[in-house]
Formats: sequence, structure tokens, C-alpha cells
Amino acid sequence: MRIQPAAVVFDASGTPFSPAYRDVYHSMDSGPGQARHVFLDGNDLPSRWAHTRVFTVVETGFGLGVNFLATWKAWRADAARPKRLHFVSVEKHPFTRDGLARLHARYPELTRESEALRSRWPEIVPGMHRLDFDAGGVTLTIAFGDAIKVLPALRLAADAFYLDGFAPDRNPEMWSPRVLKSLARIALPGATLATYTVARGVREGLGAAGFEMEKRPGFGRKRDMLTGRYMPKWRMGHAPPGRPAWPERRALVVGASLAGAAVAERLTSRGWHVDLIERQPAHATDTSALNVGVFHPHISADDCILSRLARNAFFRAISRWQALEESGLPISWQRCGVLQSAADTAQEAAMARTLDMLGYPAGYAAHVPKLAASRYLGYEPAQGGWWYPQGGWIRPATLIASQIRAATAGVGPTAGVRTHFGRSVASLRRTGKTWQAIASDGTIIAEAPVAVLANSSDAVALASVGQPLKCSRGQVSYLPREVLPELRAVLTGNGYVLPAVNGMSVLGSTYDFEDDDPLPSMRGHEANLSRLARLIPSRHARCDPGTLGGAVGFRCVAPDRLPLIGELPDLDEAHDRRLELSGAHMPDVPRQEGLFGVFALGSRGLIWAALGAEIIVSRIEGEPPPLESDLADAIDPRRFALRLARHGTL
Ligand SMILES: Cc1cc2nc3c(=O)[nH]c(=O)nc-3n(C[C@H](O)[C@H](O)[C@H](O)COP(=O)(O)OP(=O)(O)OC[C@H]3O[C@@H](n4cnc5c(N)ncnc54)[C@H](O)[C@@H]3O)c2cc1C
Ligand SMILES: C[S@@+](CC[C@H](N)C(=O)[O-])C[C@H]1O[C@@H](n2cnc3c(N)ncnc32)[C@H](O)[C@@H]1O
Repeated sequence: MRIQPAAVVFDASGTPFSPAYRDVYHSMDSGPGQARHVFLDGNDLPSRWAHTRVFTVVETGFGLGVNFLATWKAWRADAARPKRLHFVSVEKHPFTRDGLARLHARYPELTRESEALRSRWPEIVPGMHRLDFDAGGVTLTIAFGDAIKVLPALRLAADAFYLDGFAPDRNPEMWSPRVLKSLARIALPGATLATYTVARGVREGLGAAGFEMEKRPGFGRKRDMLTGRYMPKWRMGHAPPGRPAWPERRALVVGASLAGAAVAERLTSRGWHVDLIERQPAHATDTSALNVGVFHPHISADDCILSRLARNAFFRAISRWQALEESGLPISWQRCGVLQSAADTAQEAAMARTLDMLGYPAGYAAHVPKLAASRYLGYEPAQGGWWYPQGGWIRPATLIASQIRAATAGVGPTAGVRTHFGRSVASLRRTGKTWQAIASDGTIIAEAPVAVLANSSDAVALASVGQPLKCSRGQVSYLPREVLPELRAVLTGNGYVLPAVNGMSVLGSTYDFEDDDPLPSMRGHEANLSRLARLIPSRHARCDPGTLGGAVGFRCVAPDRLPLIGELPDLDEAHDRRLELSGAHMPDVPRQEGLFGVFALGSRGLIWAALGAEIIVSRIEGEPPPLESDLADAIDPRRFALRLARHGTL
């Protein structure tokens, strides 16, 4: 779906106005005043959130974000505020950052929050964007898209709702029974709602969806408004996932590489204690030890599942890495831009058409012809292609080291990480409500109510997912800086080459399933050099493969090429219930209580690790996930069991 940003227009009274919907964005009397009276007071906030750990507000229609800014300000001012306030909103026509700046200039009392929001405001591309503020105390998850599609794809537990579409007669789809029912589906028992409208259809629709409605005095010149409480008179078929209650906030994580370090950092930031177990003598000595890695989005004409997932993960990764840096932890990385070059002119023309159709902003991706591309790169590529200005390279070892340092500091007196380097987990054992990581000599390395497998292809040896995974050998070659001294950005296509980092350019990479040689081979270097020849024809034959250094790693790959992120299946129980599972949905597939995985990250470990850590921690904490339910299902480790059940072969 192409996202059309909203235009900044004011009506005669100076109130922000939408010509498309012929309605004002908020009361003519005051935007912040309406936010406080209708939405905060209408939901009995702040008192309802007092002393909670997690509190989730869901809003329909983000608009200028006045409700969000006012709610955040109230959270800041409240000594009894929740540890984590999640604000989840949806917007079909977002304003641009400049548009928000013009609009927010009218609300001086919200300047501080507005500046912070605008500094993180996402590119206007479809899907969910997650923005963290105040060290993660406040998180805005905003979905750019149509509420009709987005709301049914939310899988979360809401404490309060702000219903703030335009007036029902101007914006009927925002108040349709389908939308109202999808809100009820995610409402916790007793969840409250508030809206400025008292339209009969809305009142009745909400009543039919299970809310008990009440009229209260409205704001400004409006006599009345509505509030509601979710009190269904029937048993809920698919109740929202509750907030898990763990006996202790302790987890063990197997693998201290890209996935494991990201998970440990996110967990300890929420006050968890983590035992991080790694069979190597130090972190980042396996695949992630590859010297430098590349990160960039994925684009497809039909915006397929992979493209949507990678977009979400790409922005999540960048935002996490920036946050680590802002907290004073060093990471060696550069957003120098990435050119994904076409294989030939026909493909380049198709790529240009695709971007025209998708209408992405240039800050996300743009088509650049060969000549323009050579100005970005410093060399002329064989073809033009897609330019991702925010893509670049990162040294995984520096990221992992900073994540582990952040985890060591933790948040709270009992939080932090204990590393167990040089210890290999031979098996996992469940005793009562505890997972134990057992070494080959039978000793218990660590135990905790939560275990996260972040150990790549070895994860399935500890807990089966009902599907064997494959390993692909990859070799990179190291080119001395002199080979490509002017290269300024990453060039990808069939292979990739990076600007020199610490005196050498990484050129990659091979992709072989039937090869387990752990050492770089001459054949691998030759294959990489021929990739370079296709990427930058003018630089071919400048180096002798016999003189090159390099490295080899093994990528863990699932048959559908998507990562495995989420709770691991309980295959025994699934087998016992196989008949009833044949028509089931993902949440119905039995899972192993407290056992999670982030593995099979394939060729995109950098961005999948960031998304994976966020998903796992959201599940563990009962917070809203950072992505839509169809995307979560696509990477759920239980998907193979579900497929087998659907085919009657479980
Ligand atoms: C040649 C090549 C180039 C690549 N380039 C890129 C790139 O440019 N960008 C990108 O995003 N990705 C790239 N990748 C992919 C990326 O390296 C992987 O996706 C990523 O390393 C996976 O991270 P991980 O943490 O899941 O697994 P790993 O990095 O493999 O780490 C798993 C860890 O678990 C430990 N472990 C395993 N079993 C046990 C056990 N039983 N007990 C204790 N510890 C255990 C291992 O020692 C290891 O440290 C590349 C891969 C290769 C091979
Ligand atoms: C009254 S404004 C919201 C004001 C906002 N809550 C604030 O605090 O500034 C209504 C918003 O709903 C959005 N909207 C209308 N129809 C929509 C739909 N189908 N899906 C998502 N957003 C929609 C509009 O673009 C508009 O921004």
C-alpha cells in the first residue's frame, strides 16, 4: 500500500483541518485540552495506570500526535507512572516531520515531547514503526496503514483506548462494526475507552462489541462525550494474551553472538538477570565474528512478507544501535548508503518501475541510474539500481561487545548478565517451572524460568521444531584498500563489496550448501573476484586471489528462508492434539512454557537479531509486539508444526 502523507491546512479558526475528510483534527477550543479532558480523564488516567509495570493505550488515528504527546507528558509528571507505557496508534495519512513541526508550534506546552518525537519520526513507509523514548519508559508503536487492515492484525493486550477518527459521518470506516470488534478482541477485561463523539451508531456498535458505555460532559463547546469499559456478557473466544507472571525475572540465553547479545541486552534493560552461555572462550567468535557486515532493506513489487519484515527489522536495528551509542557505548558502523545494483538494463528498468509504484520516500529508497550511482560509490557500477541512503556496514564484534557491556550494567539492583564463556550446553532439562542448561558432564551451567536459544543451527539439537535446518557455508575475501581506494558506499547485487574499514574492503560472498570446509579456499576467492568483476567491471583483474585473506562462516537457514523467532513448539502435545490442530491458527499450537528461540538468521543476522530480541522480550514481558500478527506468524518457530498439522502429517 502506498502511503499518502497529509497536508498541513488550517480552517478559518486556525484549527488543523483535513480537506480530504472535511473535518478538524481536534476541538477548536484546544488540542491538548481535548486530549486531557476526553482521552486521559475519560480513561481515568493517570490513576488507572498507577504502579503498573506495563500499561498499553491503543489509539485509532494518530493525526498530529497531540493525544500521544499529552499522554507522555502526563506520564512524565506522574510519580506513580507505569514502568513501561506503550502507546499503539494507527494512521493512514501521516504528516511529514516538517508538517509536524509546523503543527506542533501551536502547542508550546508540548514542545519538549514534540522535539523528541520529531527527532525519531520514521520514514513514511507502510507498516509498524517503534519509537522508544525516555530510556524505553515510553514506547510509541505507530502503524502507517489503514485501520481496517491494521487493527485486526494487532496481537496485544490493551488497557485503554482512545477512539479519535474524524467525525463518524465523515470517516465512517474508522467507526465500522469491524473496527470496533477488532478493538474488543484486544481489550483486557475492564479495559476503558474514551471518545469525543456521542454518535448513536458508535455507542451502539461499542455496546454490541462488549463495552458498557456512559455519557460524560464533553470538552469545550461539546456538551457530551462517551466513555466505556470492556465488560462482555459472553465468554471471549480468543482472549488477548495475558501478561505472563514469571516466578523470577531470570533467563538463560544460549549463544553470545548477534542474537544472544541482543536478547541479553533487551532483557537486562527491563530488569532481568541473564545467564549468557557461550561455548567459545569469548563472545562473537563464530559467524558473527565476520569482520564487517552489511545492512539494508528488502524491496519487492508486491511488498511480500520478507520485505515487510526486513523493513521493520532494518529500522529497529538502526534505532537500537543509535540508542546504544547515545548511552555512551561505542559501535563501529557507518550509514554510508548501499546501492543494490541491477544485473542488466532490463532488470534496472523493472526496479525503477517498482519504486515508482511503491512511492517510497527517497530517505528510504530511490532509483539511481549508473552515473548518479557512481557519484555515491566513487566507482561506476555495471548498472544503476536502488539506493538505500540509510543502509551501511557495521562491525558485529563491536556491537556485541557493547550489548554485553550494556547488559552487564542492567537496570535495577538484581539485573545484569553473568557470562559463562567456554561452556557448551549439551541439553536442556525442564524441572518444575525451571529450565536447566546442562553440560556434557551433566553439570548444570545455569537455570531459570525462561530460556532463549540463540545458538544458530545448534538450537534444534536442544529443542526440535519439527523441521531440520540447513547450513550454508559463506566465504568473504579481504581486499587491500589499494584495490578500491575511492569506494565510499556499499555496493550489492550478485555479491557485495564494502568501503575499506581498517585498511581493507570486504568482498563477498559465496553461498554453498554442500561444503563444510572452515578455511578460506582459493576457489572461494576466485568466485568473489568474479562477483567484483560483475559489480564494478573497471576494477577487475587488479588482484591475485592467491594473495587475499578471508574468512568463512556458516549461515543457519530454514527452508522458507525466514528466521525462527518466538516460542518453541511442544511437539509432543501438538502430536497428541494433531486432529484439533488441523484447522488451527498459530496461537493455538502448543508451546513450551518459557522456552524461546531466535535463530536461523540466514544472511540477515544483523537486522533479524534486533527484531528478534524485541519480539522475545515483548512476549516475555507481555508488552505489545513490534510487528503485525501475520508477520509474527511467518517467523514463528511453531509454523512447521502447524503446517504438518494442516497437512495431516504431524
Ligand atoms: C560469509 C557470510 C557473510 C555474511 N554477511 C552478512 C551481512 O553482511 N549482514 C548480515 O546481516 N548477516 C551476514 N551474515 C549472516 C550472519 O553472520 C548470521 O546471520 C549471524 O551471524 C547469525 O547470528 P547468530 O547469533 O544467530 O548465530 P552465530 O553468530 O552463529 O552465533 C551462535 C553462537 O552460539 C554459540 N553456540 C552454539 N551452540 C552452543 C551451545 N550448545 N552451547 C553454547 N554456545 C553455543 C556459538 O559458539 C556462537 O557464538 C553473513 C554470514 C556469512 C557466513
Ligand atoms: C481526529 S484525527 C486524530 C487526531 C489525533 N489523535 C491527535 O492526537 O492529533 C483522525 C485521524 O484518523 C486518520 N484516519 C482516518 N481514517 C483512517 C483509516 N481508515 N485508517 C487509519 N487512520 C485513519 C486521519 O488521517 C486522521 O489523522
